[in-house]
Amino acid sequence: MLERLDQLLERATRELKDLRDLAELDEWRVKYLGKKSELTEIFKYIGKLPGDKRPQAGKQANQAKSTLERAYEERAEELKNLQRDALLQRRVDVTLPGRPINVGRLHISTKTLRTIYAILGKMGFQVFEAPEVETEHYNFELLNMPAGHPARDMWDTFYTTREGVLLRSHTSPGQIRAMKHFCPNPIRVILPGKCYRYEQVSFRSDFMFHQVEGLAVGRRITLADLKGTMIEFCRQMFGADRKVRFRCSYFPFTEPSVEVDIDCILCGGRGCPVCKQTGWLEILGAGMVHPLVLENGGYDSGVFSGYAFGLGPERIAMLNHRIDDIRYFFSNDLRFLSQF
Ligand code: PHE
Repeated sequence: MLERLDQLLERATRELKDLRDLAELDEWRVKYLGKKSELTEIFKYIGKLPGDKRPQAGKQANQAKSTLERAYEERAEELKNLQRDALLQRRVDVTLPGRPINVGRLHISTKTLRTIYAILGKMGFQVFEAPEVETEHYNFELLNMPAGHPARDMWDTFYTTREGVLLRSHTSPGQIRAMKHFCPNPIRVILPGKCYRYEQVSFRSDFMFHQVEGLAVGRRITLADLKGTMIEFCRQMFGADRKVRFRCSYFPFTEPSVEVDIDCILCGGRGCPVCKQTGWLEILGAGMVHPLVLENGGYDSGVFSGYAFGLGPERIAMLNHRIDDIRYFFSNDLRFLSQF
């Protein structure tokens, strides 16, 4: 048995020297010190020896075991040091240029919205938030479009499964919310946010987009105030020498209603495909708040008057950056988004 122990020790220490890494060392540990090792066998065998032989054999086997354990610890230390040295010897070329970090950027819609806030903010408009999920009552009825009103067809609307609840098709319901909030004080607010329309998606219309509603209510506010505000806005947004034109239009919640055009920023009014050869680009809808709408907001229409307008940030960005397809905005293609 003594001979067997010696052989075992000799074999184990020889193999230990040849190990190259900690994984191999672990295999070695299982093989020589594990539950199924030869050493375990020897201990079992010793248990069966006659009583007088047992203590001596047991002592020798225990000695062999601690020799192996010590050898294991030492080799583990050595291998760990080797591994660390190898790591430290890896050279780093500190003169190499750094790798550029990919920084995020604001979405083009956000940027345009912020420009709009800045321009109108300087004119005294403050931002007022209104919900995207609206009731039919606010989106239509309070805006002078009772059920069955043909003008409801101007907005293809997403209805929810809940009776009377829809995704707002424009930011105009926010007018009523702002009026109810500020009444009986004068108002000068903008209501930015997302709108939803059940549209055939194409290069000119998406089912979701932003609008910025503007609303001013006070005593003696006239169409001239609206005109001045819109001209100033257009010149700051599209260039100081822009021509601005007002056309008669119709919205149920404004009377009179107008649409505002600017001379085409691409061709300067001579006519091109973007302005469909007319020389003019339609920018926004606006008008004097309808007396019924004022009353719905809580204001006495005999004393108060107001104007409202609705801008499309994506449309504005498309013109200013010559983007020819609205679907680019929300298809999350970095090749598009990173250009701004
Ligand atoms: N809400 C109208 C639209 O979505 C725009 C508008 C706003 C018109 C305010 C007049 C006054 O088309």
